[in-house]
Amino acid sequence: MEIRRATTVADLLAAEHLYDGPPREDWAARFLASPGHLMLIAYAEDGVPAGFVSGIEMLHPDKGAEMCLYELSVDESHRRRGIGRALTEALLAEARERGCYGAWVGVDTDNAPALATYRSAGSVDEGVFAMHGWPLAGDEGRG
Ligand SMILES: CC(C)(COP(=O)(O)OP(=O)(O)OC[C@H]1O[C@@H](n2cnc3c(N)ncnc32)[C@H](O)[C@@H]1OP(=O)(O)O)[C@@H](O)C(=O)NCCC(=O)NCCS
Repeated sequence: MEIRRATTVADLLAAEHLYDGPPREDWAARFLASPGHLMLIAYAEDGVPAGFVSGIEMLHPDKGAEMCLYELSVDESHRRRGIGRALTEALLAEARERGCYGAWVGVDTDNAPALATYRSAGSVDEGVFAMHGWPLAGDEGRG
């Protein structure tokens, strides 16, 4: 298993089977062109993407930079082999290299595999919070 950063639209589209919904070329191109956005992909021996983690570096004038772990997914047939943890640790290493003061992820409280994965990568439980949203464009843009 090898973890590499996605650098082309083709890299991002090849991980299609791991996403919640179908990717779009224009969104993939915009993702790559956006500063602070990154995706790391774990490749199985056959070269097929087995998992990915995406991160967004967030900036604020009084805080500096922190890394948000946006999405983490491992193909069902490759789970429980350490790939989720390795991807999480790879994103944390990238965050450290970029000088981020911390990293965070939002997790459903009943998502036991995700909670176990983040804990095994050294996360600290920072408590439960409510999430509020404003749907702005129907289903367009959501996975
Ligand atoms: C969460 C997910 C990425 C974990 O990937 P994975 O490659 O199976 O995880 P790993 O094999 O690296 O496991 C990491 C740790 O979590 C534990 N773990 C993983 N799945 C588990 C499960 N179903 N139940 C209990 N523990 C689990 C492992 O035992 C391991 O612990 P250890 O390091 O102490 O031995 C995967 O289950 C997934 O893609 N889920 C669907 C998408 C999702 O929920 N993403 C997270 C959104 S916040």
